[in-house]
Amino acid sequence: MADFIKHPVVELPERKPEPVIPADQLHFSEDEKKQIQTWISRYPTADGAVMRALWLAQEKFSFLPPEVIQLVADELGMPYAKAYGVATFYTQYFKEKKGKYVLDVCTCFSCQLCGGFDMLHYLEEKLGVHKGETTADGVFTVQEAECLGACGSAPMLQITNGTYVHHLTKDKIDALVDALREDKVPAFTSVTLPQDEDEMGGNRRTDVAATESYGVCPVSETTR
Ligand code: FES
Repeated sequence: MADFIKHPVVELPERKPEPVIPADQLHFSEDEKKQIQTWISRYPTADGAVMRALWLAQEKFSFLPPEVIQLVADELGMPYAKAYGVATFYTQYFKEKKGKYVLDVCTCFSCQLCGGFDMLHYLEEKLGVHKGETTADGVFTVQEAECLGACGSAPMLQITNGTYVHHLTKDKIDALVDALREDKVPAFTSVTLPQDEDEMGGNRRTDVAATESYGVCPVSETTR
């Protein structure tokens, strides 16, 4: 048998594990239900709201075990398999419990050339975990990510589907980990370079003073 058949590229979560969310907590509040209904009203069919409803559920329960996916499917009146398909397609939906902060280090092409793997391995070593693992204190999960659309400020990482940290260096990672341990999440900075020079008054870098995103790119240790 071909190796890739024995070892699937994408590991799907178990389909019917024991529920982890206590039954008495497994429900949406009236406000959450109202919010979901508002989203549903914007789409031709209720399942159009599945991504937002899954997101809301993830924010509430911190991840999406099967019983939570079922709760979302029931709320939208759609088959479980359809909601499960959406939840398992996107890596941004967490199918298992993660750390308080999920650090997605991009190792796609631009970041890789600028030292993305150096940054990933440094973070793994610093936190004592491998990619995909969570630290024993439950604070950090380290993950390797595909392109996050901020190639212009490679190498970069993302904090729990939100803030981007650009132009990573080891010092920056040290400072970031210390800050997150004190629950100080850095402010979001621009994702990409300005695209429209006219809109930017003919100057692509008019916002350079307001962000540290476009600093000098560190040289990868592997390409030095
Ligand atoms: S390659 Fe890392 S953000 Fe695009």
